Amino acid sequence: MGLDVCPEMLRVAKKKARGIANVRWVQRDMRSFELRERFGVILIPGHSFQNLLTPEDQASCLSACVKHLVAGGRLVIHVDHPEVDWLGGLVKEGGGAFSDAERFVHPVTGRRIRTSRAWSYEAHTQTAIQETIWEELDADGGVANRWESGPIRIHCVFRHEMEHLLARAGLVVDGVFGDFLGGELAECSSEMIWLARRQE
Ligand SMILES: C[S@@+](CC[C@H](N)C(=O)[O-])C[C@H]1O[C@@H](n2cnc3c(N)ncnc32)[C@H](O)[C@@H]1O
Repeated sequence: MGLDVCPEMLRVAKKKARGIANVRWVQRDMRSFELRERFGVILIPGHSFQNLLTPEDQASCLSACVKHLVAGGRLVIHVDHPEVDWLGGLVKEGGGAFSDAERFVHPVTGRRIRTSRAWSYEAHTQTAIQETIWEELDADGGVANRWESGPIRIHCVFRHEMEHLLARAGLVVDGVFGDFLGGELAECSSEMIWLARRQE
């Protein structure tokens, strides 16, 4: 079962899962969902947990997850490992400066897309703020379409904050990893993958 609050994201997920028989998709808010099922494993991948901006929202999401786990069931949460130098630089320089980001081909129009992105960081709320400009280029490299997205606010979760949150939800932490191969969380890790368990 896949859960997301956003209908567009669910549409993309459904398309990607076409041909897989036993997947179900539900539109719910991860802070307050109630389903009849109980699960052996719940995963919160793709830094999605960082969309929760306050301790109250984080705690209600974890308590909804705990309610939906069987005894001994696992919760896996994948978040960023905050890069303090980069965040510090954003604070020092004020942030908000746009620079080149990814380029790709538009899946519908077949035109090239050029993006530029600006970040800033609000240290007192641990919030990174992202704004993106999207430009669709015509055959001559001229800008045919231009649109902007954001500001998107993303909470930077720090290691011990996560430990406290998981403990507050009554979960046991089995481990934290710095990559998807079971590597230790280290100074240079870009990811934090938390493995927690509902008590028996
Ligand atoms: C970075 S995307 C990750 C998408 C996908 N889970 C993946 O791993 O590829 C973050 C996702 O979190 C979803 N999201 C944000 N707030 C949410 C909420 N309160 N409840 C459920 N989903 C939420 C967004 O709609 C978005 O699809």
